[in-house]
Amino acid sequence: MKGRFGGAATGMRTHWCGELRVEHAGEQVRLCGWVARRREHGEHLAFVDLRDRTGTVQCVVDGAADLRSEFVVRITGTVRARPEGTANPALGTGDIEVGECTVEVLATAEPPPFPVDARADDVDETTRLRYRFVDLRRDRLQRNLALRATVNSAIRRAMERLGFVEIETPMLVASTPEGSRDFVVPSRLSPGSFYALPQSPQLFKQLCMVGGLDRYYQIARCVRDEDLRADRQFEFMQLDMEASFVGQEEVLGFVSEAVAEAAEAVTGQRPAAIDRITWHDAMDRYGSDKPDVRFGRELVDLTPVFAATGFNAFKAPCVKGLRMPGGAAMTRNQLDGLTADAKRWGAKGLVWMRVEPDGSLSSPVVKFLSGDELAGVGAGLGAKPGDLCLLVADDWATACHVLGLVRLALGRPAVYEGGHRFLWVVDFPLFESVDDDGRPVPAHHPFTMPHGEDWDLLDGSGEALLRARSQAYDLTLNGWELGSGSVRIHRADLQSRIFGLLGIDEEEAARKFGFLLDAFAYGAPPHAGFAVGIDKLAAILAGEENIREVIAFPKTQSGADPLTGAPTAVDPALLAELGLRVLPR
Ligand code: AMO
Ligand code: AMP
Repeated sequence: MKGRFGGAATGMRTHWCGELRVEHAGEQVRLCGWVARRREHGEHLAFVDLRDRTGTVQCVVDGAADLRSEFVVRITGTVRARPEGTANPALGTGDIEVGECTVEVLATAEPPPFPVDARADDVDETTRLRYRFVDLRRDRLQRNLALRATVNSAIRRAMERLGFVEIETPMLVASTPEGSRDFVVPSRLSPGSFYALPQSPQLFKQLCMVGGLDRYYQIARCVRDEDLRADRQFEFMQLDMEASFVGQEEVLGFVSEAVAEAAEAVTGQRPAAIDRITWHDAMDRYGSDKPDVRFGRELVDLTPVFAATGFNAFKAPCVKGLRMPGGAAMTRNQLDGLTADAKRWGAKGLVWMRVEPDGSLSSPVVKFLSGDELAGVGAGLGAKPGDLCLLVADDWATACHVLGLVRLALGRPAVYEGGHRFLWVVDFPLFESVDDDGRPVPAHHPFTMPHGEDWDLLDGSGEALLRARSQAYDLTLNGWELGSGSVRIHRADLQSRIFGLLGIDEEEAARKFGFLLDAFAYGAPPHAGFAVGIDKLAAILAGEENIREVIAFPKTQSGADPLTGAPTAVDPALLAELGLRVLPR
């Protein structure tokens, strides 16, 4: 207990509530905390459960009539073994109680808006956030925030061991290039000018490399104005790192070490060496660039089976299928729902086939397919009686994407089930799409080095550009994207060429990133880096599906803080000083 929480002794108390055991019997102790529960015991006596962050302990109090839940008290008494037959094995302190107590009330309390010992999902989230100071007293957040601190300190330990220097970068910056909307801060000294809050320390960490700092890391606050979801907040924390004279292999090694240290600190077990998959294989086999590899149900290429098909829907560049064991039991309604989902996700349709007890396939489209085609589907997917086969025909990217979503929609383990399956996804494409003007859109960010073998493709257009790979890589965990990074371009001429491809002309490049190109002119080492989302890492290690459960003061889905009322209007005098006027909406 001391190891985890430090010694309890202060002028006010001698012990933590949760640390008392039979070996303390006979000792006089002074404890401080909140009244968790009071149960009458005879005419004057009451059992008072006293809670601090280490746990609760039962105190036997004479004349506790004025004590109410959540009062803050100091209790002085003597530890004693509980009478035979009254021990509580569910409680760490269940073998003892504190007797002959005197109680001082340090602060009274209103009845709490919700019981502190209730399960968190019994209470609506806005109420939890409005009274976060009460919510924080509950087990779940106490545990999660302690776990998060364990993750942070393990990461620091690993990074220091690897020779990284912790460097803080500014919060008031010029716009950064991660591709989300900026939060902006008006400048009083230059009315009409704005700082942006950093979407990441990306440019500063690259400048640190030009500055010869060689190995930088930071547990960095990043701010992005994007739609909030279970795994997204406006503000979030990254383990951000960058290193010089290294390539992808070294960065993967550094990051693997840091996340393994964090996972081990939490679970007591070092995770297995992290497997790798190329982006292309991840899409091809799982239909996702963050594949959940805790279960199979892989996508199978059935294109050759339908090479000469007469069924119009399957006359497509690619036909993909997957097999859902036991899925034949799905009702027509469920299958219609899944088909509607697939269309919403971009497919032209979804073909389903039930595998009957005799091994034959039944489906409304069977009549359009030849015997060889049906046999090809059965063999290709390894279909067994009772299974369901699902097929999508389209271009490769759409077929994989939609069937990947179908794969997940058929059910996946909860985030805390099946252990922690980290996975590297490497060889991302350089561009994620080409816009209507024929301009490529970077898949990572514009500072990412193209793959050494794919420079020639950059002279091509459309389709060739989309085939170009980059030296970018992601880390995934149980189907979540945990982090991203890349080898960077470190030469001004190459960087200008990429800017040119992206349609960023010289004037715009100079205005937005001129300082980086300038810096490159003064001797930039080859460098590469990465950023891990710490909120996501902590959430998965805590077995939470929502990162709000590992953040002390998160925003709601609509970006509000019900506790402080943020965002709020500001004083008109302040607006005037900033040279701002709010337009009516
Ligand atoms: P990227 O934009 O991929 O890369 O961010 C890295 C990781 O940060 C986490 N993350 C978030 N977590 C919570 N809420 C959000 N709104 C949010 N946005 C991102 C994710 C993500 O994988 N500068 C580059 C890294 C680099 O190239 O070195 C960057 O920021 O887990
Ligand atoms: P249709 O010929 O459009 O009436 O479609 C016949 C069946 O094939 C329907 O069940 C559709 O959902 C399905 N379907 C149509 N297009 C595709 C496609 N590209 N991939 C998979 N299934 C499709």
